[in-house]
Amino acid sequence: MREFNLNTIVRSNVKSLRPYSSARDEFKEITSDMIFLDANENPFDNNVNRYPDPKQNKVKAQLSKLKDVSVDNLLLGNGSDEVLDFIFRAFCEPNHDSVITLPPTYGMYDVLANINAVDVIKIQLDSNFEPKVDEILNATTNTTKLLFLCSPNNPTANSFNVNSIERLITSFTGIVVIDEAYIDFSYEESWIRKLNKFPNLIITQTLSKAYGMAGIRLGICYASKAIIAILNKIKPPYNVNELTQLKALERLMKPSEVSEEIQKIIEQRNWLMSELKTIPFVEVAYLSDANFILAKVDDATARYSQLIEKGIVVRNRTTQVLCENCLRFTVGSEQENIKLISILKGL
Ligand SMILES: Cc1ncc(COP(=O)(O)O)c(C=O)c1O
Repeated sequence: MREFNLNTIVRSNVKSLRPYSSARDEFKEITSDMIFLDANENPFDNNVNRYPDPKQNKVKAQLSKLKDVSVDNLLLGNGSDEVLDFIFRAFCEPNHDSVITLPPTYGMYDVLANINAVDVIKIQLDSNFEPKVDEILNATTNTTKLLFLCSPNNPTANSFNVNSIERLITSFTGIVVIDEAYIDFSYEESWIRKLNKFPNLIITQTLSKAYGMAGIRLGICYASKAIIAILNKIKPPYNVNELTQLKALERLMKPSEVSEEIQKIIEQRNWLMSELKTIPFVEVAYLSDANFILAKVDDATARYSQLIEKGIVVRNRTTQVLCENCLRFTVGSEQENIKLISILKGL
């Protein structure tokens, strides 16, 4: 394994940055009888008149228990999209550095790279939707700071080969970001179990998918204490609002409820998969480790429009590399899936 030196990866202005110190950061020993006249808040209590906890201690404590990861290895964001943006801003020098992405994959890596004026080196997945490890490593230069691995991958729905991922983590000279937005629908183990083994690893997860909370926007970042300390420097103090923290905590206290829903979605995914295979114009329904199925049809654009006419919105991925004539179907409720299949059978 090559030597990893975090100091050479961090942007120089971030190294010397002093984060904004909020009122809640400066005074910590809070007791109920205290009078807070330090943050220019409105004194009339309505449950949200005070700024939220900038460190999200209660949510992190519960997450730490559930995921068996120390609080020092956690950072929370306004969705994992915000976490991904922090990663760009901490490590990529605009108009100088580059990142690697593996299309077809989640579109936000490209968007965030463009926003941050960072070059994107694209190394297409192979025909089995797996990373081409040697090509990726050969494409890496000394200004390539990040490698994005989305596993399970959106839109292809497969988890990448574990040995390929491990080879990339141990050989890539920058930081490997594994986006595990869909990990709860997969039988693969999360890479958070290997966090202590790899100092150049960042894992992102979200409450938007398996936890059913896309509306509250809560993304999770797992990394070494050193990486988390850097990301904390650029995190705005109140990026996770009070309502989100309350709702997230409520949900995280009921892990069995979440597991039951995941189980139902996986059952529905299996049913949808077997039904899609019986539709004459579905050429391939790719194996899924996520809460959606990518399927190749005869004419994706025509089928997409037919479905819209029947009131069903799916995602047409035909313009993505390796996804010609592919539609992406999110696994819905049992009734929604039955309706989808009956409509597809009638087209
Ligand atoms: C792979 C992947 N990562 C991240 C996200 C965004 O997650 P969040 O809602 O936490 O911003 C998505 C959303 O579709 C996704 O597909």
